[in-house]
Amino acid sequence: MNKLHYSELGLVNTRAMFTQAMEEKYAVPAYNFNNMEQLQAIVIGCSRSASPVILQVSGSARSYIGNSFLPHMARAAVDLARETGKAVPLALHLDHGGSFELAKECIDAGFSSVMIDASHHSFEDNAALTKQVVAYAHDHDVSVEAELGVLAGIEDEVVAEKSSYTRPQEVARFLELTGVDSLAISIGTSHGAFKFKLQPGQEPPPLRFDILEEIEKLVPGFPIVLHGASSVTREHVDLINRYGGKMENTAGIPADQLRKAAASAVCKVNIDSDGRLAMTAIIRKIFAEKPGEFDLRKYLGPARDELVEMVIRKNTSVLGSAGRIK
Ligand code: G3H
Ligand code: 13P
Ligand code: ZN
Repeated sequence: MNKLHYSELGLVNTRAMFTQAMEEKYAVPAYNFNNMEQLQAIVIGCSRSASPVILQVSGSARSYIGNSFLPHMARAAVDLARETGKAVPLALHLDHGGSFELAKECIDAGFSSVMIDASHHSFEDNAALTKQVVAYAHDHDVSVEAELGVLAGIEDEVVAEKSSYTRPQEVARFLELTGVDSLAISIGTSHGAFKFKLQPGQEPPPLRFDILEEIEKLVPGFPIVLHGASSVTREHVDLINRYGGKMENTAGIPADQLRKAAASAVCKVNIDSDGRLAMTAIIRKIFAEKPGEFDLRKYLGPARDELVEMVIRKNTSVLGSAGRIK
């Protein structure tokens, strides 16, 4: 297959995005997508709120979409942002890449940023694999994110039963060994809609901001990434349960914790579950209220509208990324 560079698609890498986010103390949203409606909603929401955005796909999302489709969707996303209002910068990012081969394939197919997630390996193996990806990526002006520490939950093909917090004393050495552009850390977030097992009335435990602060001191100005950062919005979970769903004991990261993180060295915040919940809630509601409806546009359309609103809300009142593109 012919190589395609992301600049041909009108995409950008994450370097300038992170520099601005660090200086102005906000976080760039990284929203996952799997289909056209999700992608459109994310782009429209970010364009309307004048926010830069990282469009991310996991390896399995990429397989679901299909390698031949994805570059066309990215190009269409750039056009859509321009048509909607602000031509906000868009990066296309591989989320939780598990191997050098996958990262290389994505770089050669028009991605502007890749994550190599070898956090479940030893420090040495993680560093060696990350370094290999960085060498290839930087030759193509592509940004690389790596991870130190393990988040509980599912990370694409990687499933971790228990989290282990990032050890701040390892961070500087890791950056020195690898030359990576940003680092995902583990400070108490986790993937999915069931982040904490809470008793009724109990609040989620606060994130380990002490670890984040120590890292900031050791590597000042270095862009940090927060995975597993969905808030698991009550309103959407309630709608899902009211209209035939069964999602009990869900819990996410409270918005005030994310606001605090966004004002720190955290420059990228990953959100997947909240987008899934928003669309599922509306689709369930429509199916329950109009059981005869079978025109896809009549339920995917409103679900897309709901996601647009969610994206604008997050950018505006949680991440602080709204209004940053003049
Ligand atoms: O962190 C994982 C993301 O939420 C992607 O999930 O592998 O089901 O696409 P996925
Ligand atoms: P959530 O499951 O909290 O949305 O996390 C998504 C994520 O980290 C994608 O990499
Ligand atoms: Zn993740």
